[in-house]
Amino acid sequence: MKKTILTADRPTGKLHIGHFVGSLSGRVKLQNAGDYDQMYVMIADSQALTDNFGNVQKVRDNIIEVALDYLAVGLDPAKITMFIQSEIAELTEMTFYFMNLVTLARLQRNPTVKDEVKQRGFDNSIPMGFLAYPVSQTADIVGFDATIVPVGEDQLPMLEQSREIVRSFNNLYGETLFEPKALLPENKTCLRLPGIDGKAKMSKSLNNCIYLSDSADVVAEKVRQMYTDPTHIKVSDPGHVEGNIVFTYLDAFCEPRHFAKYLPEYANLDELKAHYERGGLGDVKIKKFLNAILDEILSPIREHRREFEKDKGAVLDMLFKGSDRARQVAASVMDRIKSAMGINYRKDNKL
Ligand code: TRP
Repeated sequence: MKKTILTADRPTGKLHIGHFVGSLSGRVKLQNAGDYDQMYVMIADSQALTDNFGNVQKVRDNIIEVALDYLAVGLDPAKITMFIQSEIAELTEMTFYFMNLVTLARLQRNPTVKDEVKQRGFDNSIPMGFLAYPVSQTADIVGFDATIVPVGEDQLPMLEQSREIVRSFNNLYGETLFEPKALLPENKTCLRLPGIDGKAKMSKSLNNCIYLSDSADVVAEKVRQMYTDPTHIKVSDPGHVEGNIVFTYLDAFCEPRHFAKYLPEYANLDELKAHYERGGLGDVKIKKFLNAILDEILSPIREHRREFEKDKGAVLDMLFKGSDRARQVAASVMDRIKSAMGINYRKDNKL
């Protein structure tokens, strides 16, 4: 079987380091390992509109920002296809047929959708488009015969829903579509990186993100303000590592080589944690260490971004070229879907 990878992000803001550890860095590794037939990275503008339909400008503006973040982290249009969701009309067409295969109750039970409905205050007036976005996301995946979907933990219910739709389709109309599998990051801390305030998730609306495009000064200030352990007042006090965001981030970003480079008096993270718990290790020191690591990771990304920012026209052109390629693939899958369903009237040339 062919190995096809597809991932996507909603263009509602610049991408942050939660995206980076949760998905982007994994995508770059996959891309460069080259063990696939096709790899697609989609900017999900249509999906972003399902809860930003009153603010199209925001979605529009962020398409280029997300593309710049992609290029900055090393996603390479020479190896993969980067494209814009709304450019592929077939995805919307598929969504309409897939909607027949899902009940309202099933969509309302989706835990990610439930959370988002609460967060957005939709309560009893959930827009149909928003509720149905997991169906459209199924089209995003099967529309390219994708089988591997690198995602964060919050997307697992979406993938489960997609698999159910694929199974229903295949049961009704014959084996036509492939069941996709989620690919999660190996490091558990990377599944859902908390915000710098210690809140569950890094999110733009909570204003607790470190963006890939933040300057070194801004990152340093955010690290300085980071939530640690409110009971660790004096340096000599014993401290807690659990729930201490600096240590959570170190779990996500720190590698043994960072100790040799920036903090040679410790051999590894376990030693650092033990010292903090014993007492005698101050927050300033662990924050400086984290900042050095983040700076090492983010400086090259920042520099790349600045290069690509110089010619946004070229970035847009790349996205259109990718969209043209993607559309051809989706059109052929759409054709297969119509044939399977028995609605390919023109191809049959009879009724
Ligand atoms: N819902 C995803 C997110 O918010 C974005 C997305 C849209 C996606 N279509 C997709 C992810 C298809 C994986 C596959 O991050």
